[in-house]
This record gives sequence, C-alpha cells and structure tokens, in this order.
Amino acid sequence: MATDSFELLAPVWTHLTEIVPERAEGIYIYDSDGTRYADFTSGIGVTNTGHCHPRVVEAVKRQAETMLHGQVNIVVPRSTLELAAALNDITPPSINRFFFSNSGAEAIEGAVKLAKHATGRQNVIVFQGSFHGRTAQTMAMTTAKTVYRVGYQPLPGGVVTAPFPYHYYMRMSEDEAVDYCLREFDTLLKSVTAPDETAAVVIEPVLGEGGYVPAPDRFIRELKARCEQHGILFIADEVQSGFGRTGKMFAYQHAGIVPDIIVMAKGLGSGLPISAIAASEVLMSKWRTGTHGGTYGGNGFAAAAAVATVQVMRDENLADNARVMGDRLLRGLRDIQQRCPVIGDVRGRGLMVATEFTSNGEPDADIAKATLSACIDRKLLLLTCGTFGNVIRWIPPLIVNEAQIDEALATFEDALSSVAH
Ligand SMILES: Cc1ncc(COP(=O)(O)O)c(C=O)c1O
Repeated sequence: MATDSFELLAPVWTHLTEIVPERAEGIYIYDSDGTRYADFTSGIGVTNTGHCHPRVVEAVKRQAETMLHGQVNIVVPRSTLELAAALNDITPPSINRFFFSNSGAEAIEGAVKLAKHATGRQNVIVFQGSFHGRTAQTMAMTTAKTVYRVGYQPLPGGVVTAPFPYHYYMRMSEDEAVDYCLREFDTLLKSVTAPDETAAVVIEPVLGEGGYVPAPDRFIRELKARCEQHGILFIADEVQSGFGRTGKMFAYQHAGIVPDIIVMAKGLGSGLPISAIAASEVLMSKWRTGTHGGTYGGNGFAAAAAVATVQVMRDENLADNARVMGDRLLRGLRDIQQRCPVIGDVRGRGLMVATEFTSNGEPDADIAKATLSACIDRKLLLLTCGTFGNVIRWIPPLIVNEAQIDEALATFEDALSSVAH
C-alpha cells in the first residue's frame, strides 16, 4: 500500500532509496522485512542524538499530552521559554535573544531580515559553494549547484558571492587559498558592494552541500575582523555544522570568534522541525516588532524536543564523541585512501567528513555515485555532496561508537573495491 503510493508523491523530490522505514533506533533504520540499515546520513544532519532518543521521545510524548500547539503571538508555551534559556546557556554571553522558526531556510531568511533592519543596509555576501535553502531569498544565496536555482531565476538581488577557501579544489595550499580569498573579499567591498551597503556576511563554517569543506580558522578570524572594521554583521549558518556535529557545539567555536548572529536548525530538534536565530539584545532590539513571525515558529511541541536535545547533548558529551569518532573515521578513510587512489581528498571536522573522488585530477562523480549505490546495497546509507557530485559525505548520528565506525569503513572499502578497478 505504502510503496504503491510512491507515484502520488510530487516528482520534484529526489529519492536516495525507496525504503519505507518500520522503525528507527540509534544509528539504525529498519524496514518492514526487518532489514537493518546503518544510517550515516542522519536524515541530512538532523538526528544527532540518534533516532528516537528515549529522552527526546519522552519529552515529545509529554508535550503531546499537554498541548500540541500554542501560537507564540497568542500564548507563550513553557517549553519555548525553556528552549530560549537552554540556548542562552550554550551560546556566548553576548548572544542572549532567540527567535524560533521551522526550517533552516526560514531562519536564514529571517536572519537576513534582522541584519537589514539592524544595519539599514541592503546587501549580503555569501560564499561560492554555499547552500542556505530553497526559498527565493535563500536560493539567491545558494551557489552549491545550478539544480537549486535552475528555472527559478531571476532571484532576489543584493546577494554577492565571494570565493570560499576550498584549497583542494583551488589546487593551492591552505594558506595560499586563505590569502587569495581574503584579497578577493576586499576587492568585492571596493568593486561590487560598498561596506555601507553591506548588511551581513553569511558563511557556513563548514561548507555543507558545497562539498564538506571546513573553512580554515584563520579565514574565519580574518573575515570576522573585516566585518568588525566595516560594521558588517557576521552570520554563522550552523544549520548543518551545529549541535556537536564538528566536535564542538558550534563549528565557529574552532576559530575562537563570536558571530553576531547564529542560525541553527536540523540537529536542534532531533527530527522535529525547528530552527533558531540567535543574536544579542542590542541587535534584536533593532528588529522592528511585528515585522517578522509565523504560525508555527516557537511552537511548544518542537521546542520540547529541542530542550531535550540540548540536555542529551550535554549529558552524553555528544560533541566530544563526535570529535573522537570523527578522528577515527578520518584515520580509517585515509588508510583506505592509501589503497584507493581514486579518493583524492579526505577531510572534515568531527563527524562532518568528506571523501572526494578524483580521476586524473578531475572530479569523478561516476565513481562517487557507484560507490554510494554499492554502499546502499550493503545496507550502509551515505549521501553525496559537492558542486560536481563527486564527494561522499559522512554524517552519522553523534552517538555512533567505534565498532559501528569500523563496520562502516569496512563496508565502504568493500563497496568501493567492487566498483573501482
Ligand atoms: C548550511 C545549511 N543552511 C540552510 C539549509 C536549509 O535548511 P532547510 O532544509 O531546513 O530549509 C541547509 C539544508 O541542508 C543547510 O545545510
């Protein structure tokens, strides 16, 4: 019945598999035949606490029995207030006001609206390879792949793209790429968008859809310094890199900076749709009351899941586990790379790890796709990313253990050997 109904779904959705899960627990998804899949996609970076973490499930059940929906303009659910307090605890002292919405794109778009009101400026700078969402504004801010924009252009203006220091792609050393990108950034401020017309810089501290490329710490620090010098707001898009994913609660922390605005989603709700915009009281007070909102943003149901998520992350030290397991995964992949030269690069931070496939120095999407498909045949779910589709990304739930990492590595090598000759 369920599978027969596939044709009723709009074909605009792509599907990695046709699995209709019966249930999911920890890092595993089970289908109706009881077949077990190791989920190294985490539903695209969402189920950081693992599928159906008992404390998150319990919080959702409790909230469901109490009140399913309390619209925040009308009543303020207790769990929404608890979530603001929980996020206040895990963000820097200067970040002390929180706005909630439902998806990453919605929150990024809201953050741009906040930046425009707070600065009175109109433009934003994004980076090559960025992915910020699928609404009109966030599509305009997305340059990871043409498929995200094709047939929808022209898109809203006022978006300027700067190069991202993806040094492997640029065939430069990391330092050379950072210097080049900073120089180009300075040139953009002289040639395309003057500082007094530039509201914000929006950056993924680890480029996500664009290829799982960590921004070097020096780049983030020097970019932040330029923002401070010119009164441009620094917005960290932590939608995919946040909530322990990179071995710290937020990926910007690796560079030792404090953003003006932090955007969160995905891992925040462990699967319930919720996103957040976090900024200082001073900034948020410039966002004119009533000029932004939404029916579901800040609803108590998703907020209850998010409060439990933050507690689980802290109590179970999931960011630490991401760092330790991420190092193990990187070591294992680099070991496989020695035997499989078609893996051109292995990189990542915490459990946000990439294997980039190249043949004769050029992107090889075919081998990435074939390997992915061979992994799925072996019950290991992974995703690709990157402008050329030649990167396999590793994003398991942060509760993953050593044995599960080792098993996934063995499966991956077996799958790769079956397709690479
Ligand atoms: C870095 C980043 N920003 C924004 C988004 C958009 O989030 P959503 O799909 O929840 O709208 C995504 C989604 O993949 C993302 O990875």
